[in-house]
Amino acid sequence: MLVLGIESSCDETAAALVQDGHVVLSNVVASQIETHRSFGGVVPELASREHLRNIGYVVRRAFGEAGKEYADIDGIAVTQGPGLIGSLLVGVSFAKAMAYSLQKPLVPVNHLEGHIYSAFIEHPDIQFPLLALVVSGGHTSLVFSPEEGRYECAGRTRDDAAGEALDKISKFLGLGYPGGPVIDRLSPRGNPRAFPFSIPKISDGSLDFSFSGFKTAALRHIAQAGIQPLARAGARVPQTILDLIASYQQTIVDTLLTQTIRAAKRLEPRSILLVGGVACNTLLRRTFKETFESPVSAEGAALALPVYYPAPVLTTDNAAMIAAAGTPRLRAAPPLELDLNAFSDLRLC
Ligand code: KG4
Ligand code: ZN
Repeated sequence: MLVLGIESSCDETAAALVQDGHVVLSNVVASQIETHRSFGGVVPELASREHLRNIGYVVRRAFGEAGKEYADIDGIAVTQGPGLIGSLLVGVSFAKAMAYSLQKPLVPVNHLEGHIYSAFIEHPDIQFPLLALVVSGGHTSLVFSPEEGRYECAGRTRDDAAGEALDKISKFLGLGYPGGPVIDRLSPRGNPRAFPFSIPKISDGSLDFSFSGFKTAALRHIAQAGIQPLARAGARVPQTILDLIASYQQTIVDTLLTQTIRAAKRLEPRSILLVGGVACNTLLRRTFKETFESPVSAEGAALALPVYYPAPVLTTDNAAMIAAAGTPRLRAAPPLELDLNAFSDLRLC
């Protein structure tokens, strides 16, 4: 089964051809980072305009790199939401037009489900039930999946997403955009215990997250320590900034780990998935692997679980994960439904 995946929910225009849900024949991603860099974040109007400009070329290139003709595909999977509505509509409209002209089936995919499937591409034998930490610039959710295609939301952020918290502090300190990769790269040079951030307490015992308090605490530390943002990109980064971002990153990782451990104890999954752009983070990957796969304490031993995360190109937004998520549904040969629409606030569960 050969599936074309199309993804345009935020600032990446992406198309991919995937065979049988896990053989990636091509995975083309046109990033808009340069368009949005000077604004320090994604500008929705510019994003939809860029998608419109790029999508035809990106899809053609996905076929070219895979050495396939349009007629070779068995169906199309497209991101339906959640995301920026103007951006989503470009992908959905393009996919509908293509499905109609080729008379091929088309299935909508939830972006979060796409991220979950990104882990299956390289590890098709992941065991259910699974617990996925979906952590990106737009989302921070714990999703429990008892079996393929069924999802229960165990916890989600009540305010900012973890990636957003990293991006905002990086922007404030003049470190660059997107902030996650910069903080990942610089943090090993800082002391992660230098600044006393505390893990936010969600007092009702839920598995939710909250990151907006971190930002306020970080801004207070910045003011108290008299830290000035970098005057220009590429300038030498002072030790206090390195210490601050190392402490900030450490606390975000500790928070994500604490809630995932609590969820794993309650839900008893057989696998842990770490997916979404922030799952590229070196400290996060290492901490999850060490905690779940080589637990040192007796309490941890009860939690010994395999941790799966995708290769970095499949971790940040891409269309191979959308094709992979759409493949099981396309196998059921759905009819061509052209009333498919995009939804900015589409829920997975
Ligand atoms: O999944 P993604 O590409 O888009 C969304 O669905 O949001 O995630 C983008 C997010 C950004 O916030 C970016 O700063 C973060 O992922 N990110 C990272 C790393 N690489 C990307 N965060 C921490 N460490 C990284 N290495
Ligand atoms: Zn994403």
